[in-house]
This record gives sequence, structure tokens and C-alpha cells, in this order.
Amino acid sequence: MGSAALSRPVVHRKIRALLLALILGVLSAATALVAPPAAHAAESTLGAAAAQSGRYFGAAIASGRLGDSAYTTIANREFNSVTAENEMKIDATEPQRGQFNFTAADRVYNWAVQNGKQVRGHTLAWHSQQPGWMQSLSGSDLRQAMINHINGVMGHYKGKIAQWDVVNEAFADGSSGARRDSNLQRTGNDWIEVAFRTARAADPAAKLCYNDYNVENWTWAKTQAMYNMVKDFKQRGVPIDCVGFQAHFNSGSPYDSNFRTTLQNFAALGVDVAITELDIQGASPTTYAAVTNDCLAVARCLGITVWGVRDSDSWRPEHTPLLFNSDGSKKPAYTAVLNALNGGSTTPPGDSGQIKGVGSGRCLDVPNASTADGTQVQLWDCHSGTNQQWALTAAGELRVYGNKCLDAGGTADGARVQIYGCWGGDNQKWRLNSDGSITGVQSGRCLDAAGTSNGTRIQLYTCSNGSNQRWTRT
Ligand code: G3I
Repeated sequence: MGSAALSRPVVHRKIRALLLALILGVLSAATALVAPPAAHAAESTLGAAAAQSGRYFGAAIASGRLGDSAYTTIANREFNSVTAENEMKIDATEPQRGQFNFTAADRVYNWAVQNGKQVRGHTLAWHSQQPGWMQSLSGSDLRQAMINHINGVMGHYKGKIAQWDVVNEAFADGSSGARRDSNLQRTGNDWIEVAFRTARAADPAAKLCYNDYNVENWTWAKTQAMYNMVKDFKQRGVPIDCVGFQAHFNSGSPYDSNFRTTLQNFAALGVDVAITELDIQGASPTTYAAVTNDCLAVARCLGITVWGVRDSDSWRPEHTPLLFNSDGSKKPAYTAVLNALNGGSTTPPGDSGQIKGVGSGRCLDVPNASTADGTQVQLWDCHSGTNQQWALTAAGELRVYGNKCLDAGGTADGARVQIYGCWGGDNQKWRLNSDGSITGVQSGRCLDAAGTSNGTRIQLYTCSNGSNQRWTRT
């Protein structure tokens, strides 16, 4: 993800917070505030504009087009997240049972990472695009093959994928609200939760998503069925982190403004939401702006992915549904989306606020409100200063001041935890666990306070579930 600049409303809010804090006299000398970074002018690319609110703007990328420089020029300039359009699917990654092939998938993954983009994984368990050997399986043999497939693919990309579409398109179209009939469904109704539990164990750092289409309209039976499944999973502790709304809008499945209600209702269940395969028949600028604003209005909306770059790259080119014409020029819909992102809500995705130690009751604090790279963070009495405001980004960073990341200065017990300019490394990514611990993605070790008093330095340490390693976000 690109740098997250603060937009004007954020700066105004932070200035108001600063004045309030000074009036209340709650700031100690050790935590005097410095002004946050200056506001940016409007950004000129989709990815940079989305990053202003901590979101991403991505595209489905096809490995076969990476030799087309007109394509890669647009894709590299505009997008900061990539989904492989077909290359990470089951038929591509496990063409023979037990024999994995990541050639095409790695081509897309490497292009993305070498160009500074995060990657969404798509998709691990799906009724479609199964290789021939899997199509002919059933029962416990198929169930085991599904588990082995998830382990094989997620193992290959362990720690490297921001979000995985673990299960894709498991509900039937129409008004039944039933599961889609498929060989996977016939292995037993629990196949979806088994897929998610397998996925969590295979890569604890990835956000695990359920992804589907025709689930954007809140009144539709398929939407309600998906909602009830996610609600049930959250209640029973089945590991699910996010829901992907494909958002293929067309005359048979048009955009409805209640999409925002849908996103809000899912977010209220305690999952992130994402728009994962957006395309709109005819590419109405008004509809594209409305969808963008729907995501911006929901704090837990991580970002938007369009399903291709130019109309000629679309799976439905006759619908001309994308943001770029086939000759690479920008369509009116492009400008509508960019403007929405530049003027949009600044509510960052995920929770943003203080991180309070359970054992100490004190907050994660940057000493003296320093902005210097390498400043080790500490415990300090909680207050409203910007040096205690941590925003969780879609990539798993914990950002302070908008552009500095909580950074592990090593991987061993005792390694310092500091702030550093955000650069996308695994030492700057964190997993916020349900037991209150915060795990470094690179080290697997926990955020640890070696004491409880003001000034206690924060380090990495082997996870023990002690109260000095548990945190609440306020
Ligand atoms: O690469 C072969 C080519 O060698 C062959 O000559 C040609 C003949 O048909 O087929 C080519 O493969 C096609 C592949 O796309 C690459 O272009 C497949 O037939 C075709 O079925 C496949 O379609 C993909 C489709 O998923 C399959 O279900 C689309 O590209 C892809 O955009 C689409 O993506 C899905 C998401 O994964 C899930 N949500 C819906 C979305 C749109 O259908």
C-alpha cells in the first residue's frame, strides 16, 4: 500500500483534539504533541487516493497480459493491490492431485510485490475451475483433497497474502437462500467452516474472507443467507475475518443504494468487508461514485478491487464495465471514482485509537511524540494525543501520525518495537488476536511490556498470554 497521507478533515480533527488536550492540561512533558504531517492535495491515482483513508484500490491482473506494456503501465500507476484473475485458482495451482504449480500465480504475485502492491488471494475452495481430478471426487476423499489444497497453496504464500478468498460462491442464486449444490457441498454442510479452520492454521497472518456475487442488495435472499452464515460463524468462533462482495453489477443484477446498508450490517457482525470484483455494465460514473462512497462510508471497508484494467481485459468486454477504455484512456467513471476517493470519508478501516495494556492500564505511546524513525515505543498514561492513536490498516500495519508504522527491530525475544516509516515489510505487520495478544507477522512473537510503569519500553517476546502481552483497543 502507498503512503497514507492525512486529508484536511483529519488534520482539522487532530488540531481540535490537540487544542482540547492542551486546555484540559492532560499532557505530560514526556508526551508533548507535535503537529501531524501537513495535509496533501488531491491525489492523482486511484491507489494513492484510496490510501488517504488507509484503504487500497486494486485490480484483477492476468499473468498473460504482463508482457503488454500499455497494460502494465496503467496497472502499476493506478493500483496498489492485486488479485490474480485466474492464476491462484484450484485448476491452476494443483493441476494434478498433490502436484502444485505456482508458475503463473508467482508471476502475478512477484509483479505485484516488486511494484509495491499488496495481494489478495483468490480462491481456495470453489465449485468452479476445479481440475478434472477434483471434479470426479466426492465424500471424504474430496473433503481431504480440499484440506490438502488449502494447506498447499496457503503454505506456499504463508505470511505474504493480505486477504484470502477461502471459500467462493457457496450460495445458490434465486430466492431459496440455500447453499449451492456442488461436489463440495455434498461432502457435508460443514465444508465451509472446515475450510476456514484449515486456512487459519495454514496462515495465521492472512485475513480470511468469504466471497460471493449477487449479495450486495440487502433485500435479496442470497444476501440474507450469507449474513446468517457469517453471524453463526462469529457466534461459534469459526475463524472468519472478512466478507468479499464481488459487485458485478449489470442489468440483471443492478446496483441498489441499499448496498451501503449491506456493508454496514456485515461490518456490525465484527468482520471487515471489501469490494472484490467490481465492474458495472456501461460504467456509469454515477454508479461507480456511489459504490466508492459506500465503501468510504463504512469504517471496516478495507478497499475496492476492479475486475480488470481496460474494457478489453474484462471477462465481459461487451459490457464495457471498467474504468479504462480499450485504448488505455481514462473513462468518465475513472474520474468519478478518483474524485470520490479524494473527497471521501476519512474514516480509516478497522479500529483506530489507543492500544491499552491489560496489566498496566497504560497506553502504547511514542515517547515525546517523536516522529523519528527508530524511536522505541513505551507505556504511558492514556491521553488523547496523536502519539497514542494507532490505526490498523488493511495490510495489518499499526500506523501512527498517518505515515509511521509500529515496527519490529528484530525477531528475537527482547527485540525493540519502534516506529519507522511504513514500507510494507512483514516486520511492520501485526495480527490482533482474539485473546488480546498482538503478534508480529515476521517473528510470530508478541508485543510485550516488561513492566507496568510510565516509560516501560515495548519489545517482542515469546507469547505467554500474560497480562503484559494482552491489549485492548479503545
Ligand atoms: O487460457 C485459456 C485459453 O488457452 C483457451 O484457449 C480459452 C478457450 O476458452 O480459455 C482460456 O481460459 C479461460 C480463462 O478465463 C482465461 O481467459 C477460461 O476458458 C475461462 O473460463 C476463464 O474465465 C474466468 C472465469 O472466472 C472462470 O470462472 C475469467 O477469466 C475470470 O475473470 C472469472 O472470474 C470470476 C471470479 O473468479 C469469481 N467471480 C466471478 C468472476 C467472473 O466470472
